[in-house]
Amino acid sequence: MTLEHARPIHPSDLPDRLDALEATVRARTSLVPRAGIVLGSGLGGLADDLADAVAIPFRELPGWPAATAPGHAGRLLLGTLDGVPVAMLQGRFHAYEGHPAGLVVQPVLLMGRLGARTIVLTNAAGGLDPSFAAGTLMVIADHINMTGLTPLLGPNADAIGPRFPDQTETWTPALRARLHDAGRAEDVDLAEGVYVGLLGPTYETPAEVRMLRGWGADAVGMSTVLEAIAARWAGLEVAGVSLVTNPAAGYAGEPLTHEEVLAAGRDAGPRLARVIRRFIRDLPPA
Ligand code: HPA
Repeated sequence: MTLEHARPIHPSDLPDRLDALEATVRARTSLVPRAGIVLGSGLGGLADDLADAVAIPFRELPGWPAATAPGHAGRLLLGTLDGVPVAMLQGRFHAYEGHPAGLVVQPVLLMGRLGARTIVLTNAAGGLDPSFAAGTLMVIADHINMTGLTPLLGPNADAIGPRFPDQTETWTPALRARLHDAGRAEDVDLAEGVYVGLLGPTYETPAEVRMLRGWGADAVGMSTVLEAIAARWAGLEVAGVSLVTNPAAGYAGEPLTHEEVLAAGRDAGPRLARVIRRFIRDLPPA
């Protein structure tokens, strides 16, 4: 166990780290992704649809530890999805694993370095909107960052993005519309709402669930918001979908388990995979 883990990574550290990461990827493939896709819990199956994939385990990338969260494979993949070059992250780094925010966001920033202009973030989430049953897919319209963290703490890297980034349209409206187009084309129902990101790893208390609902959030999870902040900071366009794996704590009157989250992901994951695949296929050329 080293403390490398817990050391903060400031924005000003990121250019050098991204240089090293980019060089490592470029030693393996010259593919320039049109988009980067982060596959959340239970959604890793989309990686099987990738053609001519080059897979790089996290631990082979400089400064990246192996993934530890259950249900996360921990690989960066580059390949083509229906002919469109993409990068995929099978698994991700979470702050609740003890990773600094400056590590959590490196995958999306690396995808940007490699050429992706669009980032698609997916996650498993609890439903705060009482109408969201397990299996609901929610296009992310906006987010609330309640992790208590930000990847932008510390000296800025002006070469990547501004000190005070605007967040008015963090979740690009045109991409949201494209996700809904893809849902219609695939005959998959998509809700839309606000994602609130917490640090975890506890699920919420019922009192917290009532508070988060009162704040205007529709789904709650333990990822995504730091990645969205960093991607927008770096000028990338961001889209996302939450897979609601369970009604949030207190609604069902029964304890939540990670197993039910993974099971609902396995169940609804293929529907979400179809939407993402269609969304990617129909993206305009960069
Ligand atoms: N809360 C937080 N994160 C989650 C949940 C939840 O209910 N379900 C899946 N990820």
